[in-house]
Amino acid sequence: MEKIRRTKVVDLLKREDFGAMVNVKGWVRTRRGSKQVSFIALNDGSTIHNVQVVVDLAQFDEEMLKLITTGACLSVDGVMVESVGSGQRVEVQAREIEVLGTCDSSYPLQKKGHSLEFLREVAHLRPRTNTFGAVFRIRHNMAIAIHKFFHEKGFFYFHTPIITASDCEGAGQMFQVTTMNLYNLKRDERGSISYDDDFFGKQASLTVSGQLEGELAATALGSIYTFGPTFRAENSNTPRHLAEFWMIEPEVAFNDIIDNMDLAEEFIKYCVKWALDNCMDDVKFLNDMFDKELIERLQGVLEKDFVRLPYTEGIKILEEAVAKGHKFEFPVYWGVDLASEHERYLVENHFKRPVILTDYPKEIKAFYMKLNEDGKTVRAMDVLFPKIGEIIGGSERESDYDKLMTRIEELHIPMKDMWWYLDTRKFGTCPHAGFGLGFERLLLFVTGMANIRDVIPFPRTPRNADF
Ligand code: 4AD
Ligand code: MG
Repeated sequence: MEKIRRTKVVDLLKREDFGAMVNVKGWVRTRRGSKQVSFIALNDGSTIHNVQVVVDLAQFDEEMLKLITTGACLSVDGVMVESVGSGQRVEVQAREIEVLGTCDSSYPLQKKGHSLEFLREVAHLRPRTNTFGAVFRIRHNMAIAIHKFFHEKGFFYFHTPIITASDCEGAGQMFQVTTMNLYNLKRDERGSISYDDDFFGKQASLTVSGQLEGELAATALGSIYTFGPTFRAENSNTPRHLAEFWMIEPEVAFNDIIDNMDLAEEFIKYCVKWALDNCMDDVKFLNDMFDKELIERLQGVLEKDFVRLPYTEGIKILEEAVAKGHKFEFPVYWGVDLASEHERYLVENHFKRPVILTDYPKEIKAFYMKLNEDGKTVRAMDVLFPKIGEIIGGSERESDYDKLMTRIEELHIPMKDMWWYLDTRKFGTCPHAGFGLGFERLLLFVTGMANIRDVIPFPRTPRNADF
C-alpha cells in the first residue's frame, strides 16, 4: 500500500474531510474495549488531546494486538470518521497497525494520577503525561511570546556569556568552572590556590546574570534583552528556587525607573495574554486538574494596573498587619530583606493585585543600582506576584562613575575584573535601566504549578542533577 503522510493529532482533530485515509503516529495512553473491538487513546504530544483509534480485533493478527499496551509506540493507517462517543469529533478506524516500539511491563506511567513527587523521579518520562505535556507546551509558547514582544518593540536579542569572571549580583553564590586537577591543586607562596595554570588563567564561574554585559550592549544598541540560563549555588531548597534557571533581562538606554516599571508591566501582561490566547487547551487542563482559580487569576492580572509603592510604605503596611495580630515567620522592620511571606501578604491580602515595590534600602540591593537623593535608598524595583512573590528584580542603574566607584569600594567588590564595566561610565555614560524576569517564576504563575521543579524539564537543585 502507498505510504500515507503522517498527520499530527492536533491537525487531525481539526479536519473535516471524513472518509479520508490518514496516518497517525504516537504513544498509547490507554486501551480499553471488548472481545470484538479495542479503543486506543493515542497521543503524539502535539496537543493535550488524544485521538481515538478504533480497532476491529478480528481484522488483525493476534500476536501483534498483544503488543498494543500502555506506552507502546504505534503507526496507524486508517479512515478518519466522525465520532459519536469518544468525546472528540474525529476518530480513526484502523486498517493497518504497525507497532514501532513495544513497551516493557516495567513502564512506570501505567496508571493515571501519579503524584508530582513521583513524576520528578521519572523526569525522563514525565513529558508523556498530560500534566507535563501541557506545562512544556506552555513553556515553549512563553519563550516565543517573549521573543515576539521584544522583537516587535525593536529590542535586539543579545547573547551574554555563560562563563564569567565577575559576580554580577555580588552575592557570592557562583558555581566555579575549572579544569584544574582537584586532587593536586597548585598553591602560591601564601598558600592560596593559584589559577595561573587553570583554563582561563583566572578564577571563572557560571554566570548569575547577563546584566553587566547587557548594559554594555544597551549603551551601544539602545534596547536589548538577554534570554539564557543562569546559575546560582544558593542552598535554598524552596519551591521557588533552582540552581539552574532561565532569565530574561532587558536593558534600555535612556530609560528611568518609571519607564522600567512600565516596560515590566506591559511585558508580563503580554506574556499572560499570550498564554490565554494561544494555550487555552493546556491552561484549562491545568486549571481543572490543579488550580481551579488559575484562569481567573490570569485574567485578573490583565485587568488591573499594578500597584507601585515605595519599600518604606510597604514596610508600614506590614508593620500595621503585625500590630493587628498577623503572624509572620520572619520579623518586619525597615531595612529587612523581605521574605516571600511578606511579599505575598502585600499582594494577596492587602492590595489583591500585583505590586511593584521600589526604592529599597541600598544595603540589601546590588552595587549597580542608582542611589536616590536621600543617600539611603536605591532606585530598585521588584515586581511581586500572587502565589509567587518576587517575579522580577530590576533597577535604574548608577550611571555616575564616582558614585558607582563609591559603592564598589563600600562593598569591597574586586575591581580588577570590572574595568570593562566601568568603561561604560567613562565613555559617554547615559541613564539606563533594566530588569530580570525569572522564566520559571513566570511559568509558575501561568501554569498554576506550585513547585518550580515542575516547570523546567530537568530541574537542578541542591543534591539533584539527575537526568
Ligand atoms: O533579582 P535578581 O537576582 O536580579 C538580577 O539578577 C538582576 N541582574 C536582573 C537585572 O536587573 N537584569 O533575579 C531576577 C529574577 C528574580 O526576580 C526571580 O524571578 C529570578 O530571577 N530568580 C530565580 N528564579 C529561580 N531560581 C532562583 N534561584 C532565582 N533567583 C532569581
Ligand atoms: Mg531579586
